This record gives sequence, structure tokens and C-alpha cells, in this order.
Amino acid sequence: MRCAGIIILLALGLGLAPMGCKDKGGQRDHSTGDILIGEYGSMTGPTATFGQSSHEGVMLAIEQINAEGGVLGRKIRVISEDDQSKADEAVNAVQKLINRDGVVAIIGEVASKRSLAAGSVCQKYKIPMLSPASTNPEVTRTGDYIFRTCFTDDFQGKVGGQFALRRGWKNVAILTDVNNDYSKGLAHFFRAVYGKSGNIVADESYREGDKDFKAQLTTIKGKNPDAVFLPGYYTDVGLILRQARELGLNVPFFGGDGWDSPETLTLGKVVDGCFYSNHYSPEDPRPEVQAFLKAYEAKYNKIPDAMATLGYDAARVMADAIKRAGKADPQAIRDALAQTKDFSGASGIITIDAERNAKKPAVILEIRDGKTHLVDTIQP
Ligand code: PHE
Repeated sequence: MRCAGIIILLALGLGLAPMGCKDKGGQRDHSTGDILIGEYGSMTGPTATFGQSSHEGVMLAIEQINAEGGVLGRKIRVISEDDQSKADEAVNAVQKLINRDGVVAIIGEVASKRSLAAGSVCQKYKIPMLSPASTNPEVTRTGDYIFRTCFTDDFQGKVGGQFALRRGWKNVAILTDVNNDYSKGLAHFFRAVYGKSGNIVADESYREGDKDFKAQLTTIKGKNPDAVFLPGYYTDVGLILRQARELGLNVPFFGGDGWDSPETLTLGKVVDGCFYSNHYSPEDPRPEVQAFLKAYEAKYNKIPDAMATLGYDAARVMADAIKRAGKADPQAIRDALAQTKDFSGASGIITIDAERNAKKPAVILEIRDGKTHLVDTIQP
């Protein structure tokens, strides 16, 4: 009698197992079916080009990987969530991906503020999160399940500071978005390097979403700087530059990767002669870059921005980690991500260090006539 009961229970258990990715008393079975990866990003809202570009890069990579047979003999399926460019929605997005969908790993976010918010949820549930693009050093300090495949802002701030000094700019003004972790961090690391030999003649601030920058720009103009460091997102760059030029503040502005968006290139004359540091240049002759460019242009009919490139690399690094993990298990994937070494990406060679960051070169781009031109490549 007892024996029959056990056999029935066993049969029930076996009956459930092959369906894959189902709850087994609170534990997910990840051993069969498609491998589910979550992706969250700003598909809509102010910084929509960040989310859309990285999504396009991710999808191109997964399409290529699945066309070659997938990983571990299974296809990868990406479940995407839009966080509307909001930090609290980023938290909701990863909660859904983890609890509703049972993903084994997550790619996202671009903006450091949103990676910081959602990263603590991924850490809590021990689901590895790989940010393609969040450069604020704090992001991966959230915990041992949080990784990134891009460089960090201690490096990027130094790149900006050294660039300003090398251009011979003796007096520089700074205009920071104090509602943005990325902007505050980058301004901090820039000050530390540039401030040693150059004069910071003004240190002004604004808040994401502001529309009128005339007061700050008037103060800056009064100090006669050689250039203005603007470590913000592309969403504010256009408005700020237009108002600066109207006020007769005609010196070059320069910023970081947050400038990178097709929209920055449509600003026209106000942005000519401005510079920003970035993760990649389409002019880079490396075969990995040129092969990616060709595939991306064939699929989307446009030149990829940095976010598209970083999304592509993050998805490929993730697939590679799952393969090396040998099973679609969150902890095994975490351990494999930590071991990533010399992965040849379109945005550079990716090795994950002990702090779960990647050390990669940065490029300086100059904007002219609606195009970026590679000015310099700086090694870490
Ligand atoms: N580095 C930015 C951040 O951390 C995001 C970003 C990356 C924007 C790459 C554009 C290109 O917030």
C-alpha cells in the first residue's frame, strides 16, 4: 500500500519534470526547453534610444547564436521588459522576470541609476545580472551576482580629464545632472584628475527633466572657460547646447558615453566641434567590429550606436557563460560569468575581473557634420 503511494508520487513527479522551467515546490526546473534569459531596459520614456539600441544588439546576437544551434543543444529565448526609463519600473521589471518567468539570468540596464535599483533585486534572488553599459563603479558593488561588460567611470572620468589637459584647456566649467548617479560619478572622477593641473572655474548643476539652463549657463559664460564638461545624457545635451549658443557661449562642450545616441548627431551646428568619450567607434578596423557592423546594418538598416554594440556583446558573453557553465542554472552561470576571459567582443576584449567589471579601452569622438570621428583611443 505504502509502496503504491510512492509509485504514484514518483509518476506525478516524472510527469511534471519534462515540461521544463516549472515550479518544483518553489524551485524551478531549468533543465529542459528553451533557456530563458530576461532583458530589461528603457524601450520608452526619455532615454528610449538606450533601451531600443541595446535591445537590437541583444536580439541580433541571440538570433545568430540560435541559428548556429543555440547553447547546450537548446535555443535561447529572451523575455524583454520595458522600464519606461524609470528606476522603480526597473525594479518591477526584474521582479516579473524572476518570479513570473523564471529566467536564469538577466541582461540590463544601461543607465546606472536603474541598474543600481534593479541590481539589488537580482542579488536578493541570486539571479546573475549582466549590465551591458552601466559605468558607475557602485553598480557591481551591489553584490556577487552583478556583472558588467563595459568599463567604469573612474576610468572614463580620467580619460575626460586627461583629454581636456592634452587639448590645453586651462579653464573648464562642469555642468552635472545631480539627479543621475552616472552624471554625479563621472563629474567626481573628472574633477579628481583634471582639477590637479587645470582650473575648474565653475561647477554648476541641474536635474534630469529641467528645461531652462540659462542661469547656470550665464554663470559659466561669466567665468570664460575654454570648454564645458557636461557628463549628462543625450536627452539634455541638445537643449543645453542650444541655450548655450543663444547666450553666446560658443566654446566646445564635451561629455561621456551618455551623449551616445543617434539624436545627438541630428543637433546640427550647435554640437559641431564637441567631443565625448565612448565604448566603440564604427571606424575601428578590427574584424570583430566590421563583422558586427555588417550584420547589424543588414538587419536594421542603420549604423549601430555604442549601446547596440554593448548589448550585442553582453548577450554573446552571457551565451558563452551558459555554455561554459554546462547547465542553465543561475549559480553555475554566475560562476562562469566570473571566469570570462579574453572574450573577443565588438566593443573590445572582455575579461571580467575580481570586482566583476571589464577593463576596456575608451575612444574619444569628435562630432562634425552629423557624424562622429575617432580622435583617440585610450587604453585602460
Ligand atoms: N554609462 C551610462 C550610465 O552608466 C549609460 C550609457 C552607456 C549611455 C553607453 C550611453 C552609452 O548611466
